[in-house]
Amino acid sequence: MDMGKYSGQSKNELDTPCLTLDIDIFEDNLALMRDFVTASGKKLRPHVKTHKCSEIAKRQLAAGGCAGLCVAKVSEAAGLTAAGLTDILITSPVVTVQKISALMESAKIARVMTVIDNRDNADALNLAAGESCLKLKVLADVNPAMGRTGVACEEALELGKYIASLPNLELMGIQCYAGNIQHIGSFKQRHESSLLVMRQAAEVFRQFKLAGLNGVIFTGTGTGTFNIDSEIPEMTDFQVGSYCVMDAEYLQIGGSANPERFDLFKPALSLQTSVISVNQPDFVTVDAGLKALYYTPHAPPIVLNQAGSGWKYEWFGDEHGRIYFPELCMKPALGGRIELSASHCDPTINLFDSMWIIKDDIVIDCWKIDLRGCCR
Ligand SMILES: Cc1ncc(COP(=O)(O)O)c(C=O)c1O
Repeated sequence: MDMGKYSGQSKNELDTPCLTLDIDIFEDNLALMRDFVTASGKKLRPHVKTHKCSEIAKRQLAAGGCAGLCVAKVSEAAGLTAAGLTDILITSPVVTVQKISALMESAKIARVMTVIDNRDNADALNLAAGESCLKLKVLADVNPAMGRTGVACEEALELGKYIASLPNLELMGIQCYAGNIQHIGSFKQRHESSLLVMRQAAEVFRQFKLAGLNGVIFTGTGTGTFNIDSEIPEMTDFQVGSYCVMDAEYLQIGGSANPERFDLFKPALSLQTSVISVNQPDFVTVDAGLKALYYTPHAPPIVLNQAGSGWKYEWFGDEHGRIYFPELCMKPALGGRIELSASHCDPTINLFDSMWIIKDDIVIDCWKIDLRGCCR
């Protein structure tokens, strides 16, 4: 992107809909997570699925305290290696022939690790690694009773022993990520649920060590449970993703200090939208709909403008949204800017090619969302 035309512009002059990232808030979020995790004696392994942006990944690493990065997909790993990054954990099993082949290509040029929850998959990866003259590092993926992926806790040790017996795989430990717990509204309930699950995974990790398996990594947790799972002594690193940009889903759950709002991390990412029609008495129409904001029924986007307290966003089709306002005197003006925190940051960011970087409301840079669309 040629920044010449845009650098120094006010964020309010950018055409909409577009994504903006407030650099100061973003850096504060990185520092806060790094300091907490480091003080807990753990490492960070930030999840790139959130932002799909290698520039953000580089800044997360530069902020310190990291053991590496996580991605959900092999194609994301390839994107990061192309950007010169290494120490990448793929947090989903890699199963199809094409993906296994792509994984081997990435593993030839960077340190790439993946998870396994099945013997057949272990065999396939072992074979492919042998053909590529690689010793592939892997983790046993442990099911946090969610059932998305992962081996049952009771069967994990057997799987671990099996993986360790294969010549071209190097077992490094376990992963357990409880996505179903991250957004439980009450902090107390989230605390109970997460510790219950992660203590079971910790037991698996201890069994690995007792059995002489190479248990050096126990990775997991997310933004909703990082300050809960820090109580698990066996955990080595935290795969947090959303904390760096935040979204409406996270802002609406309870936090450890504030039961009404999870406000430790601030919304660094905004979706800028403009009012394009004001002819209705109780709402105005804006230019951001489903193509600019990923739909999440239980957490509509939150209006961030200070002046707009009481403004509420509601979806209004593919291209539009509507903003309800409490009183006529608070009706947004035609052409006015509304700044939103997206419902869910990951799939919303994936709708855009780039994000504008803002400091004190002024555009200072534009970062490419270079892993956008890497869904394989
Ligand atoms: C395996 C895994 N780890 C970590 C994360 C990051 O979670 P969060 O964005 O809640 O921090 C995700 C997000 O879905 C995930 O799937």
